[in-house]
Amino acid sequence: MSGYFITLEGIDGSGKTTQAILLEKKLKNLGKKVLLTREPGGVKGAEKIRDLLVQGDTDRWSQVTETLLFFAARRHHLEKCILPSLNSGKLVICDRFTDSTLVYQGRKNVSLINLIKKLSELAIGIEPDLTLIINADPQKSLNRGLKRTSNETRFEMLGLKFQEEAKLRYEALAKNIDRCHIVDGNGGIEETHQLLWKIVSNNLRLQP
Ligand code: TYD
Repeated sequence: MSGYFITLEGIDGSGKTTQAILLEKKLKNLGKKVLLTREPGGVKGAEKIRDLLVQGDTDRWSQVTETLLFFAARRHHLEKCILPSLNSGKLVICDRFTDSTLVYQGRKNVSLINLIKKLSELAIGIEPDLTLIINADPQKSLNRGLKRTSNETRFEMLGLKFQEEAKLRYEALAKNIDRCHIVDGNGGIEETHQLLWKIVSNNLRLQP
């Protein structure tokens, strides 16, 4: 694989999607071949699975079923989009990946965390080169998430405590994995972009 794989992570409404777009623009301006994509979804079939996951009642799936659906969407996305792009030398930016499953579905459940790690190893087989975790205030992020007019609020409906715990789980994850970097997302959009850029340019050995 000759490309480079960057993932953006963070709680709902943390601003990852805006930052992913800014990062894509910056890298393209430097002449890089970039593909911006997202999970769950990214390609047609996986977007269909996305609808099942982000809409409807919070208790519509058990945590195991939900985990399997996320991995079905991920495998399809990987085959159809991520791997071909990496193999053609592109820089892939993905808005969420397996770390989201560990944080949102795995939570503190050891057997689920083991299942996710095994599925990742057996059915996905790749890890990002670099993961940027945007750390933002859970209350502000949740308000932002709930203000959106879409019907994709299944996870936001789990409430503030869930988002606070998710933030802590991201922080714990980052402590143990070298590719993960926590970025303060409480400043303005441009300020956060500069913080992200410092890490990305450093890792890609580009001009800061
Ligand atoms: P996303 O589109 O990134 O929503 P947002 O822009 O609000 O962050 O993700 C949709 C939801 O899916 C989000 O609430 C997090 C959840 N999710 C998981 O629970 N597990 C996963 O593996 C992924 C990829 C997303």
